[in-house]
Amino acid sequence: MMKGSDNMIQDWKQFLIPYNQSVEELKIKFKSIRNEYRKMDKYSPIEFVTGRVKKISSILDKAKKLDIPMDKISEQMEDIAGIRIMCQLVEDIDKVVNLIRDRDGKDFKIAYEKDYITNEKKSGYRSYHIIIKYPVYTAFGEKDILAEIQIRTLAMNFWATIEHSLNYKFEANMPEHIKIKLKNAAEAASKLDQEMSEIREEIIESQEIFQVKSSLIADILSELQALYFTAKINEIDEYREEFFHVQERGDFNELRNFKRRLDKLAKKYNIDTTI
Ligand code: GTP
Ligand code: MG
Repeated sequence: MMKGSDNMIQDWKQFLIPYNQSVEELKIKFKSIRNEYRKMDKYSPIEFVTGRVKKISSILDKAKKLDIPMDKISEQMEDIAGIRIMCQLVEDIDKVVNLIRDRDGKDFKIAYEKDYITNEKKSGYRSYHIIIKYPVYTAFGEKDILAEIQIRTLAMNFWATIEHSLNYKFEANMPEHIKIKLKNAAEAASKLDQEMSEIREEIIESQEIFQVKSSLIADILSELQALYFTAKINEIDEYREEFFHVQERGDFNELRNFKRRLDKLAKKYNIDTTI
């Protein structure tokens, strides 16, 4: 008896290995897109990425509910591997969807898409879903894994997270007054997304300025660091003192001018500032 259940758990662990790997790889891929935008001081359509592998107990519950036989789980259950991509603005969702479509047939294949933004669910749920077939390479060869990518705004995510937990708590018996509150909250979340869209240019611009400024400060600091080892101590001390004030005032042009002067000094000492 004990031996049997041990084996079963072992089988499940083995079954889930490629799913775990797929989720890890996909998280890296989507996080990299975000990091690339950041490094270029550009507004990123991806705010953050999460991923999870469905718990064994949830896989069993769902298989029972949908009458999926054990040997058909990997073909018929599409969300054992799940990736969630959160965006700040509704418009970002289209950009992310297009980024994913551009890769169709390259590092994965799109099986199908579900647009619960244009077609909001009765519950009030909004999100864009893409089901992909992801080829994962394990110690025993290649395997195609189904994965569900959910793309949504922060507001949509907030609503879905809370609605999900309430559904879990009440199961089929959600009190009417809570259902009504959730419906209202879904509308409020949708309104929030609209309001933010109306000021999207300002949002994008302000975030890019912040990004450029923080990169500039980081560059100045590493240049000062490099100079510290090569330049004359009193010369570099003067610059350090000045930087302290320039940074405190936070004026963008002043920071840029300071950086230019620092670049000249670095050149004088043959310090490579291109890296
Ligand atoms: P599932 O059996 O849940 O997979 O339903 P389905 O195969 O018809 O797919 P659907 O696109 O409806 O849902 C897929 C996933 O979207 C779910 O597993 C949830 O993560 C999410 N989802 C769908 N509808 C809702 C909803 O009303 N509320 C919340 N919180 N999440 C939802
Ligand atoms: Mg599903």
